[in-house]
Amino acid sequence: MTGLLIAFEGGDASGKTTQARRISDLIGAFFTREPGGTEVGESLRDLLLDAQTPLAFRTEALLMAASRAQLVEEVIRPNLENGIHVVSDRFLASSLVYQGYATSLPVNDVRELSIFATNGLLPDLTVLIDVPVELSMQRRTDMPDRFESETTEFHEKVRRGYLALAESDLEKWVVIDGSGSLEQVSSLVDQAITGHLGLSLTSSSS
Ligand code: TYD
Repeated sequence: MTGLLIAFEGGDASGKTTQARRISDLIGAFFTREPGGTEVGESLRDLLLDAQTPLAFRTEALLMAASRAQLVEEVIRPNLENGIHVVSDRFLASSLVYQGYATSLPVNDVRELSIFATNGLLPDLTVLIDVPVELSMQRRTDMPDRFESETTEFHEKVRRGYLALAESDLEKWVVIDGSGSLEQVSSLVDQAITGHLGLSLTSSSS
């Protein structure tokens, strides 16, 4: 039996990393993140997030796709083939939204590029942690990276892009209201994972 691929998505400071790690622990999955997760991917991540390195939008999209291609080949596919679930903090939808909806690149071009990168692999479920942009801006504490330095308008487009993607594929997406307390959000995420994938949430500790 192959493992399941679950992606967590959301705007910056949406709380998705906390949720992704928590679920990964609960289902005994392999946890990874994008961009990054491999040696070359982490080098690309440094370039991609560095607000001081100028990057054309197409370069940015290609480097995101390159990081994803390596991650799928080296980490995600082998784990899935061994029956191990994989939880990824961001995946293909991040490119559709950040490089497509929120910038000037056609979303379909970015989608094709990403599907080329993953060799057709798509998540079994994408969990969107949706938070109003104003709230996510208040939650930020660290130095802003390339994307966090973007305008409020950019982040509004990111949010709308995610919601549009979720709306167009309700079977493979679940939208979680991320504006509540950690306990409230965790409980909604737990229900989504058990409801959509039928996974038990105690497997790694039992
Ligand atoms: P990260 O520090 O992981 O942010 P977060 O904690 O919000 O996930 O930085 C990842 C940044 O990279 C994030 O701002 C979104 C951006 N990104 C893209 O623009 N396209 C992509 O395909 C991916 C995977 C990430």
